[in-house]
Amino acid sequence: MTPFEDRTALVVSASRGIGYAIAAELARQGASVAMTARTEDPLREAAGRIREETGRRTLAITAHSREEKDRQAAVETVMDTFGRLDLLVYATGINPALDLPAVDLDLDCVRRMFETNVLGALHFTQLAWEAWMKENGGSVLMLNTVAAHAVFRMPAYSATKAALHRLTEDLADQLAPRVRVNALAPAFIRTSFMEPITSVPEETAAASYPMGRLGEPEDVARAAAFLLSPRASWITGTTLRVDGGKSVATATQDRPHPAPGRPVL
Ligand SMILES: NC(=O)c1ccc[n+]([C@@H]2O[C@H](COP(=O)([O-])OP(=O)(O)OC[C@H]3O[C@@H](n4cnc5c(N)ncnc54)[C@H](OP(=O)(O)O)[C@@H]3O)[C@@H](O)[C@H]2O)c1
Repeated sequence: MTPFEDRTALVVSASRGIGYAIAAELARQGASVAMTARTEDPLREAAGRIREETGRRTLAITAHSREEKDRQAAVETVMDTFGRLDLLVYATGINPALDLPAVDLDLDCVRRMFETNVLGALHFTQLAWEAWMKENGGSVLMLNTVAAHAVFRMPAYSATKAALHRLTEDLADQLAPRVRVNALAPAFIRTSFMEPITSVPEETAAASYPMGRLGEPEDVARAAAFLLSPRASWITGTTLRVDGGKSVATATQDRPHPAPGRPVL
């Protein structure tokens, strides 16, 4: 299945974790893929692995999502190399404030988080729109979180993602019908991002999920490929939860698994 044959994707923040899994999935489904991250070596290795596995063209672009010049240079490089930019995935999301109470937050830290998690997403979308999507159409995907709409005791991070949610819906309204803009809201996905946040053993955390396990980057990547693909051509402004049922779970910690009689799909 190659719904992205002849399409070019830019996946921002893709040297590991969810961004990497999305870049790999899009390449498997036919796309040429440009990938960014701040650190050059792991990024080049990641792009090389995807190229080797899929045979698709990949491009590693070292870029800091908080730096305006880096964002501009990244989109220019994609256009110079591939001549088009059909799919944009903004996977950058930082949480250096961890779970500090709101009254103790350092304002410079919160400012950096908004610049990275929200401003970067807006600017990359503006750049992709100007460079290609305004004339030729395209599809944009933001990485949000279930913590945007519930109290997860990460006030700074949740505030940035709530802002990203608002932005996703307004962009979807304003860029239609040329460009669709959607988001994914994962719960706990097993990546390095979650290591400093997690205080309980994995089995304990997994027990609070109806599906009985934590998420893998590939769970998010498959949903990403769907929302970006023509199969979702009448879906825009949507945030799709990818959360193993966490948002609809009744119990929090001591849920038995597998629940008696519950099919494990
Ligand atoms: N993991 C979860 O449970 C979870 C849940 C909900 C939502 N999310 C969201 O999903 C997205 C991806 O998270 P993840 O878990 O995949 O993170 P991750 O595994 O920690 O991956 C981080 C990636 O982002 C890059 N990166 C970090 N800061 C950057 C910056 N300022 N500019 C450019 N690239 C940067 C990293 O490379 P360098 O360090 O080399 O830059 C790396 O490629 C984030 O938006 C996050 O908020 C994650």
